[in-house]
Amino acid sequence: MIDPKSSLQSLTPYIPGRSLESVYQKTGLHAIKLASNESLWGPSPRAVEAAKDSLDRLAIYPEAHFTPVYELLAQIHGLSADNIIAGNGADELLQVIALTYAGQGDEIIYPSPSFSEYRHNTLLTGAIPVEVGLNSEGAPDLHDVLAKITPNTRLIFLCSPNNPTGGILHQDEWQSFLNTLPDSVLIVVDQAYYEFVEDASYAEITQDILAERSVIMIRTLSKIYGLASLRIGWAAAPPPIISTLRRVRAPFSLSQTAWAAAQAALLDQPYIAQVRKATLEARKYMMQEFRRRNYRFWPSQANFVTVELKSQAKSVANQLEAKGYITRPATSFGLPSSHLRVTVAPIPILEGFFRAFDLVT
Ligand SMILES: Cc1ncc(COP(=O)(O)O)c(C=O)c1O
Repeated sequence: MIDPKSSLQSLTPYIPGRSLESVYQKTGLHAIKLASNESLWGPSPRAVEAAKDSLDRLAIYPEAHFTPVYELLAQIHGLSADNIIAGNGADELLQVIALTYAGQGDEIIYPSPSFSEYRHNTLLTGAIPVEVGLNSEGAPDLHDVLAKITPNTRLIFLCSPNNPTGGILHQDEWQSFLNTLPDSVLIVVDQAYYEFVEDASYAEITQDILAERSVIMIRTLSKIYGLASLRIGWAAAPPPIISTLRRVRAPFSLSQTAWAAAQAALLDQPYIAQVRKATLEARKYMMQEFRRRNYRFWPSQANFVTVELKSQAKSVANQLEAKGYITRPATSFGLPSSHLRVTVAPIPILEGFFRAFDLVT
């Protein structure tokens, strides 16, 4: 049988969190999923209504680029519609960006431990993967990035807040980093967990996009907006980058149901503010509970907390699963085998989680 191109031979499949269905089949339990950083508050009821209303148009191709959604995103984030592209999840945009800007012989820098798709997309392009570490706050180490830049560097992926550690890039370090970089290097800052950041020193990227720096910011409606299943991600960048990406992206990446739900969800900002407030309270509770039990964890600015257990995370995750809580050992991200990532959920759910946690640890 024909082999794939040689650069793809070390490609491994994405490892998702255990699904509710597979746990039900195995244990007969209707478990609670705290493994994939989805929103346990769910989407705005208005988004659900809009998705349902779109179902009478299933025979018709969707819009390729739905201007009302781009205009809403622009308005909410102080950008203009030609700064924006949506994709089939942030995942698709990360892939389109890598394939558009890098190829064989180029180098792509990305952090580790971090989201697995940076490495995956690097391998897809045939470029050379260059990994950098994290700093003590669990954010990509920008000094390490600077040390690893060569004339062949084309792309740099950064993740802030970083998944699975929750650390952020700060404005001062980001600005001095950006100022030392040539515009021939494209920096992609993945801000999938942007809305959960509380720290005022967080590096915002919007002003650098408006200043036409060589920067792309990645966001998603899969997290705080609670629409992971509909696959809606978006990116913002200077207009020349966006018009290139719009030419490269597949024409109908988002269904009309996704566009309709996105529009309604974006219009319901009071709902998002409510989910944000509840998530931040629950995150604080979760960190306090781990601290009270003398566990070390990565202080998180996202909707998850990664804790260092005193035994193997895989075994604890299996025991938690048998009690109805699906969590995620963080080994697949590159952390030690004692690290477990848990999604922040409403406090009553977390109370049940900690009762189960105490029984299995
Ligand atoms: C850092 C990061 N970026 C991107 C994504 C993917 O987002 P989407 O669901 O929009 O593809 C995730 C999903 O967990 C993530 O953690």
